[in-house]
Amino acid sequence: MAEQIQAVRGMADRLPDQNRLWRPVMARLVAILELCGFEEIDVPIIEKTGLFARTIGAATDIVEKEMYSFADRHGEGLTLRPEGTAGVVRAAIQHRLLHGAVQRLWYAGPMFRYERPQKGRYRQFHQIGAEALGVADPLADADMIAMTARFWNELHLDDVTLEINTLGTPAARQSYRALLVDYLSAHEASLDEDSRRRLHTNPLRVLDSKNPAMTSIVAAAPRLIDHLDPPSQDHWQALLGALDALGLPYRINPHLVRGLDYYCHTVFEWTTDRLGAQGTVCAGGRYDGLVHELGGPATPAIGFAMGLERLIALCEASTSLDRVARERIVFIGMDDACRERAFALLQGCRDRHPAAALLIETRGGNLGKQLQRADKAGASIVVLVGETELQDGTVAVKFLRADRPQESVNQSDLPDWLLSQLVTAKPL
Ligand code: HAM
Repeated sequence: MAEQIQAVRGMADRLPDQNRLWRPVMARLVAILELCGFEEIDVPIIEKTGLFARTIGAATDIVEKEMYSFADRHGEGLTLRPEGTAGVVRAAIQHRLLHGAVQRLWYAGPMFRYERPQKGRYRQFHQIGAEALGVADPLADADMIAMTARFWNELHLDDVTLEINTLGTPAARQSYRALLVDYLSAHEASLDEDSRRRLHTNPLRVLDSKNPAMTSIVAAAPRLIDHLDPPSQDHWQALLGALDALGLPYRINPHLVRGLDYYCHTVFEWTTDRLGAQGTVCAGGRYDGLVHELGGPATPAIGFAMGLERLIALCEASTSLDRVARERIVFIGMDDACRERAFALLQGCRDRHPAAALLIETRGGNLGKQLQRADKAGASIVVLVGETELQDGTVAVKFLRADRPQESVNQSDLPDWLLSQLVTAKPL
């Protein structure tokens, strides 16, 4: 046999089994985004390398170590996008979407980072993200965060926690940076290699160190939150007030700095402890300077992105799975004549319910085998036609995912009966 070629490390195939949950979850997120006024934008997967270096920051992990960069046939430096914000902002400037207008944009698709693959961390992963461009008010920050909270409600996920912090204005950060460098320099001998390098290139990133040996140094470091200038303080207090008014619980994490350099004021992350080490499901923040830095008109903005692999894993790990899983109805006939009747009933039900997921098991075999196959196909309900049902004009209905006794339904009533089931089951 010829040698098989495997997928690239850290880049996964998504098989029908996984897509069964992926698509309906996406549909629910998109429905919320659209109701909140966001419209879809698609930007290329490949951009000029300079775009990411200038936006994410030259001294970040992503740009220093994780980009898939290459020269094309003409020697132009290109990169597979490691995130979506840079490309969306580039496109908004290029197509002049920003002059005076507020733009609310969402996007979804693959992103690429050359990280060490592990559970929840991949080299190709998928994000759904949103960017609100042209909004300055702290209420817009609260609105964005509240929208992400709606996702969890919609998916019946209650094991996520909101962490927030402020990075203040560039001026506040600049004077804080000097304080932090003084403090870290005094402890230089105890810093790990990465942090020593960062001390002068990007000292705030030292606070984000995951090295346990750095914990006590980071914990005792001066905190930006204690050194805010009045505009930073005003924005921060207004955000907290708005979240409190919404009754949205949060945890202030003064060491939350995020792995990208474009942020100011609000930063936030939704985390869970159900996914092990890679517990950040959704993350974002305000980036008021970015549009201008990329040559566009001064435009305040805020956004977030959610890791879809992590979100799906969280849905699977939580008890909400049954509630979000799609209702599938599989028709079974016990012999050729029964199967023919089942087939006709299926077509009739499809005519009445074009949005319902109805399929037929055509391979035959004994009842146990057919039920097993229906179960594997994700059926929650099986509509069965056997010899008896064929004779008396009924079907037997079995419930595979509920503790409910089998029912007998007249064939002529079946489309209406299914409608009542689909309504109460609220299919996704
Ligand atoms: P980020 O924190 O780099 O932010 O990524 C957002 C989310 O993408 C993470 O919270 C995580 O769920 C997921 N993610 C990141 N890397 C991986 C990976 N290697 N494997 C699996 N999932 C991953 C951004 O990308 C910003 N663009 C967010 C943003 C939008 N800020 C403002 N607007």
